[in-house]
Amino acid sequence: MGIRKILLPFLGLAIFGFSVDIVSSEFSFREATVHDIRIAFKQNELTSRELVEFYIREIKRLNPVLRAVIEVNPDALYLADKADQERKAKAPVSKKSWLHGIPILVKDNIATKDKLNTTSGSYALLGSVVPRDAGVVVKLRAAGAIILGKASLSEWAHERSSKAPSGWCARSGQAVNPYVKSADPCGSSTGSAISAAANLASVTLGTETDGSILCPSSYNSVVGIKPTVGLTSRGGVVPISLRQDSVGPMCRTVSDAVYVLDAIVGFDRYDAVATRKASKYIPRGGYVQFLKADGLRGKRLGIPHEPFFSFNGSGLSQVFEPSFHALRQGGAILVDPLETPNFEAIASMLVGEQIALSAEFKLSLNAYFKDLVTSPVRSLADAIAFNKKFSRLEKLGEYGQDLFLEAEKTNGIGELEKEALQNLTRASKIGFERWMKKNKLDALVTPLSLVSPVLAVGGYPGIIVPAGYVNVGIPIGICFAGLKGSEPTLIEIAYSFEQATKFREPPSFKH
Ligand SMILES: *[C@@H]1O[C@H](CO)[C@@H](O)[C@H](O)[C@H]1NC(C)=O
Ligand SMILES: *[C@@H]1O[C@H](CO)[C@@H](O)[C@H](O)[C@H]1NC(C)=O
Ligand SMILES: *[C@@H]1O[C@H](CO)[C@@H](O)[C@H](O)[C@H]1NC(C)=O
Repeated sequence: MGIRKILLPFLGLAIFGFSVDIVSSEFSFREATVHDIRIAFKQNELTSRELVEFYIREIKRLNPVLRAVIEVNPDALYLADKADQERKAKAPVSKKSWLHGIPILVKDNIATKDKLNTTSGSYALLGSVVPRDAGVVVKLRAAGAIILGKASLSEWAHERSSKAPSGWCARSGQAVNPYVKSADPCGSSTGSAISAAANLASVTLGTETDGSILCPSSYNSVVGIKPTVGLTSRGGVVPISLRQDSVGPMCRTVSDAVYVLDAIVGFDRYDAVATRKASKYIPRGGYVQFLKADGLRGKRLGIPHEPFFSFNGSGLSQVFEPSFHALRQGGAILVDPLETPNFEAIASMLVGEQIALSAEFKLSLNAYFKDLVTSPVRSLADAIAFNKKFSRLEKLGEYGQDLFLEAEKTNGIGELEKEALQNLTRASKIGFERWMKKNKLDALVTPLSLVSPVLAVGGYPGIIVPAGYVNVGIPIGICFAGLKGSEPTLIEIAYSFEQATKFREPPSFKH
């Protein structure tokens, strides 16, 4: 993988007498990592233009089937040329510019102030003008990344209709899992996951409120990081809940995801309270230092048979046995059985999540609409009316808009919502936090994205890493989750696991 070189050392030495880079080489675009690209740039074996041209070609070729990309940036080649010139001129490429000249697709609910639309997949927002780049996009551009385009998603991050399938939005239709076309691609960051998996971009960005990075990453064999809430700015992101929303990378490797994470974390004045509060978690020197091959050594990992791996009927324990083996081989201490909390009590409290989200969604979405420069819709009520008016375009007959209607009925954070929110806080305290502390765990290990509600309501981070394929070749991921700010530890574990296993394979496009 990466750069294949046909070294001609003797020839080089014979002609020039020193090691000028006349190596004949061939850059391998497919599965190229950020590291590969940076080396190839440095050795003048690759330009950003070539990279962007490759991805645009692949999008043209594969997107009619995969429907993972909504829009390609008309300025992408211009930006690539600019990056190439900057590198040639040796313009200051700072340490923070890991992503210089590297094309990224961002989920369509992340605002970009350029020729691209930001629509959350809905025609209701087509033609809206955002006031500015999203906070994470400002940071991506500062790191030198090229915004290649917008990735598709479950429309409105799956907060319009509970009936709509994952990965469907009106603007680009049904996204398709590139491994097994009939399989669930999961959502809501569906296009981001598929694009990373199918090499339609170097790296991608997704968002999560509850499982929206972790689940599609699992189903499309990519690495997804759902950061601690507030570590990455939600400014300029079409919201669901500021209490739960988080923006994170979705990439082919842990190191790619970490390069992106490094670029996007930190304070943003358009999400000031949360990003200031979470900035204490950002380690000096960033996250790249935690890419350690021996990162598993001595880590205490909780692998709860109950309730996560206990579906013996589905064979989940057996499916993950090679993963457990790799964790043990890497020197981790696998803890199970765990002293477990009262799941029934916690489950009854988690019921409040949808109650809270519904009210928060209306409040935060209306605030987002208000901030737009121009927009066809200015409120949730407008968006509901839009869907009725353009019911064929928005498939209202098939999917309805139950979640929109439910949210519209709410009236701020009242008594019921307060009780729900208290429940969620308490569930986190007596559930996940107690679990982690009592068992002295570095991370909790769970299959797929089954733990996402726990992470969602508490604002905790999780990293999903490819862990194999089941049935006819449907990818499965393993999730490493931890307490707030535990990204350094989770990265050590995830990277070390990935290096030991290398489960990821490019898509096979089976039916
Ligand atoms: C953005 O949407 C407009 C329609 O409102 C369309 O004409 C334009 O091509 C879109 N931009 C991109 C980059 O696709
Ligand atoms: C699941 O299967 C394993 C062996 O594969 C067995 O040891 C364990 O008791 C089973 N658990 C349940 C809950 O059936
Ligand atoms: C809060 O949790 C209790 C159980 O502890 C449950 O009975 C109640 O319905 C929950 N309230 C809300 C609003 O979710």
